[in-house]
Amino acid sequence: MTWANEVLSVGELAQRVPVRQERFLLGIAGPPGAGKSTLAHRLSVELSGSGRPAVVAPMDGYHLRNEVLRARNAWGRKGEPDTFDAPGFVADLRLLRDTPIGDPVPWPLFDRAIDEPTDAGVVVRDERIVIVEGNYLLLTAAEAPGWAGVRGLLDECWYLDAPRPVLTERLLDRHTAGGRTPEQASDKVMGSDLRNADLVAASRDRADQVLTASDRGYRVS
Ligand SMILES: Nc1ncnc2c1ncn2[C@@H]1O[C@H](COP(=O)(O)OP(=O)(O)O)[C@@H](O)[C@H]1O
Ligand SMILES: [Mg+2]
Repeated sequence: MTWANEVLSVGELAQRVPVRQERFLLGIAGPPGAGKSTLAHRLSVELSGSGRPAVVAPMDGYHLRNEVLRARNAWGRKGEPDTFDAPGFVADLRLLRDTPIGDPVPWPLFDRAIDEPTDAGVVVRDERIVIVEGNYLLLTAAEAPGWAGVRGLLDECWYLDAPRPVLTERLLDRHTAGGRTPEQASDKVMGSDLRNADLVAASRDRADQVLTASDRGYRVS
């Protein structure tokens, strides 16, 4: 029996991922900077280490390339829902579902060093558990065209939340580490990232469970 508001370790969270014969797609949604990529990585290590091979398939690899964004005059809004190839992401999720275990499904990754997706990312092959992580997994068609097809392709979707000041600080750090000046970083966070965070927050109630990191693990509510 589990209780709302308990704090679970990553190992305990991993035990919440059902054992299935078919491939299981676990979504981790949440605002930018919440710690989704970190949690997805930790879960995959935990699952794989306990004999349940798992792989992370991030949404971030579906960022449109910078030259495409510039041509559309959308580079400054990079990170918003329409700056991703949502149909490509949905199509590849379907491929993950439809491809027999053991056959390869290539999955792109996002390389923060060059700020571009890389086609040669990971290959999902034998893993029965795929952890799909990204901001926009739980959006409706009314919120952002192209994304509503995602949820139906996931078996379960968790939501990782974090307090807004924490998000803000992490995003500022991310952008300065990526080469922006503090002022440019602030413009990006205030003018774009936090707006995206608000859009994502509206989808929180659609998740199967909501997690918030604490110093002892992840609080479930
Ligand atoms: N549980 C946690 N406790 C403390 N810091 C964390 C935690 N999870 C993530 N972080 C830090 O927060 C920042 C954003 O994490 P990341 O996983 O990249 O977020 P997201 O993928 O949601 O944008 C990183 O610097 C990461 O090290
Ligand atoms: Mg991430």
